Amino acid sequence: MKLKVTDISYSGSGVAKENGKVIFLPCVDIGEEVEVKIEKSMSKFDNGKVIKVVKASPFRISPPCPYYGECGGCSFQHLTYERELELKKIILKNELKKVGFVGDIAVEPSECNYNYRNKIKLTYCNKELGYISSTSHKFIKIENCLLADKEILKAVRVVEDYLKKHSYSNLKSVTFKSFDSGVMVIFLFTKREKFLYDKLLDRYPIFIAVGDILESNKTKIYKEYNKTIAKYEILGESFDVDAKAFLQVNKCVTEKLYKYVIENVDGKIVINAYSGQGLLSRLLAKKAQKVIGIEVQSSAHRIAEMIKTDNMQNFNAKVEAIISSVSKAVDSVVLDPAREGCNAKVLEEITKSNIKNIIYISCNFSTLTRDLKLLTKFYKILKIKCFDMFPRTANIETCVILEKF
Ligand SMILES: C[S@@+](CC[C@H](N)C(=O)[O-])C[C@H]1O[C@@H](n2cnc3c(N)ncnc32)[C@H](O)[C@@H]1O
Repeated sequence: MKLKVTDISYSGSGVAKENGKVIFLPCVDIGEEVEVKIEKSMSKFDNGKVIKVVKASPFRISPPCPYYGECGGCSFQHLTYERELELKKIILKNELKKVGFVGDIAVEPSECNYNYRNKIKLTYCNKELGYISSTSHKFIKIENCLLADKEILKAVRVVEDYLKKHSYSNLKSVTFKSFDSGVMVIFLFTKREKFLYDKLLDRYPIFIAVGDILESNKTKIYKEYNKTIAKYEILGESFDVDAKAFLQVNKCVTEKLYKYVIENVDGKIVINAYSGQGLLSRLLAKKAQKVIGIEVQSSAHRIAEMIKTDNMQNFNAKVEAIISSVSKAVDSVVLDPAREGCNAKVLEEITKSNIKNIIYISCNFSTLTRDLKLLTKFYKILKIKCFDMFPRTANIETCVILEKF
């Protein structure tokens, strides 16, 4: 069947219609005419596959990655980067209409749109490393993920050689994190297992953990060669950070985002909620009279305590547990939650408080929209800016500035 793509969905897929029914199509552009095969039919929509591009977008290019379309991690490699940014803007505008926002959305590009990720997590399967496809759910061996930092790719090759020599039955994944002090390799096991040391790994700090996910309080660390502390420089300042804690994945965009947050913080006393390792708190503390950081993960909190200045106070707690007790006399709050967005209690306490300025950073616009539905009853959206933290993928980092009515 031949269809015309008329819109773009929140997942980065194109939208076409046949007899009123929506058909989602990956790897297309608005305006393209395509020959389609229906892969999966649901009651309200179908998922289709493009067999042939009949009328191509002027922005169509050849995707550089051999796994593109197969691994499911990227959504825009078939288009120029400029077009990707336009589409991301359309996606955000469509989404934010739901909260009545019809203004312009500024977009801050990423200087590097490949090799920007300072962290990748590869699944271990039959002595090989790869991604689990988000479309087919099959394991795909990955030798060269174009999103990963080049130093990480060198380390992947070393670890692959190591894994050819040593077999593990409980190894779940290997995470590679790149810092200014070098790459760190993290082996995550589902059950404790004897780790076989090999000279091959000598050049990298290694740490071995047991658990389901990394960057969680529940993961048990059972072995560390060297240390999990690394050096990380941002906005001209060098910090000690912990590989067990969260760090934004694209440094050049993070610098732009942090600068923007600092510029838009209005007031003397600031809460930095979901504050991670406290790097942003520390940068905010140069401007504000007092910064209160709140972070649940212990290793991230420990770093925040190590780097704190006299006008910083850190709480190792859930934001929802302490926000009511720390929000008195606060002028501004920075919210940077994980994909789940903010807990309802957090939003309720903020709306009851005298906080006049909110800066909401989000990596998931669905939960952002959900949370804005409540906040916009008490706060006006002043501006929205998209920071392209995740080029070539459909993920969008958004920063919303709100002011109390
Ligand atoms: C998206 S990261 C942001 C970190 C930090 N703002 C930064 O730029 O590095 C979200 C952080 O929130 C923490 N977190 C998740 N749920 C939380 C909660 N309920 N209360 C406090 N912190 C939480 C996570 O451990 C993580 O460090």
